[in-house]
Amino acid sequence: MNLPAGNNLPLLSLSGVDHAYLGRTVLSGIGLSVFRHEVVALVGPSGCGKSTLAHIAAGVVDPLRGRVERRYGRHGMVFQEPRLLPWATARDNIAYPLRHCGIGRTEWQERVRAAAARAALDPLDLDKYPVEMSGGMRQRTAIARALAMQPDMVYFDEPFTALDVALKRRMQDLVIAASRDASFSALFITHDLMEAVRIAHRVAVMDVHGRGIIGERIVPGHPGERAEGDLFDLVNRFVTQDPLFRHIHDIDERRVS
Ligand SMILES: Nc1ncnc2c1ncn2[C@@H]1O[C@H](COP(=O)(O)OP(=O)(O)OP(=O)(O)O)[C@@H](O)[C@H]1O
Ligand SMILES: [Mg+2]
Repeated sequence: MNLPAGNNLPLLSLSGVDHAYLGRTVLSGIGLSVFRHEVVALVGPSGCGKSTLAHIAAGVVDPLRGRVERRYGRHGMVFQEPRLLPWATARDNIAYPLRHCGIGRTEWQERVRAAAARAALDPLDLDKYPVEMSGGMRQRTAIARALAMQPDMVYFDEPFTALDVALKRRMQDLVIAASRDASFSALFITHDLMEAVRIAHRVAVMDVHGRGIIGERIVPGHPGERAEGDLFDLVNRFVTQDPLFRHIHDIDERRVS
């Protein structure tokens, strides 16, 4: 995992986490950790409880049982739908949480500028309303909004599923560069194994019925420095030879690309 010395405690750790909605168990015995400077991809078939797990990890939902330890300062969240305010420009959408927590004008303007640059938003795009933006631009705005809070942990819940393959690739590169340069850790939920191995240091696989993380695989090398051919071979090996990924067809079922 190539972790720096002295950073042995995970930024996030879940142990023995169970959850139920209306008496129906959706998660049981979940254990998962994310270390500093680490991006962990979480894969599993639709409905197995990945979003619920992210909500519990982020503290949006309280688990029925189990322990969640957060050693990070602040987190950001990016979802499949950008969830922008329709009446606000990109600039105001990115600034909204900053202004909400009382950050002064000069400071939020600078943070918006820096976060927009990191998310590859053109300064001219900052004056656009969501209805005037492309899908990729909206998702970049949502990423910039998360980054402007200067998080040390970011939860991504299938953020690029709705984007076409080429755009998806560019957005992945953007997240890889941002996580390296702004040094945040991330839990990245995806249905796309190729996306998982491109973006993450480690891929965790969730049981079909949310009964635990059934295993994990470390992806050799560093995100952004791996050859595409090697990643392609790795995914191929996972799918054809690794029993951990035997439910990959369930995972692939909802792939857009
Ligand atoms: N607020 C809720 N109330 C009741 N049941 C819910 C609620 N949210 C999720 N569920 C149920 O919990 C289970 C896990 O849902 P969750 O959204 O966590 O799965 P997921 O793995 O993220 O699925 P997907 O890949 O389709 O996004 C599903 O059976 C879902 O119907
Ligand atoms: Mg989900």
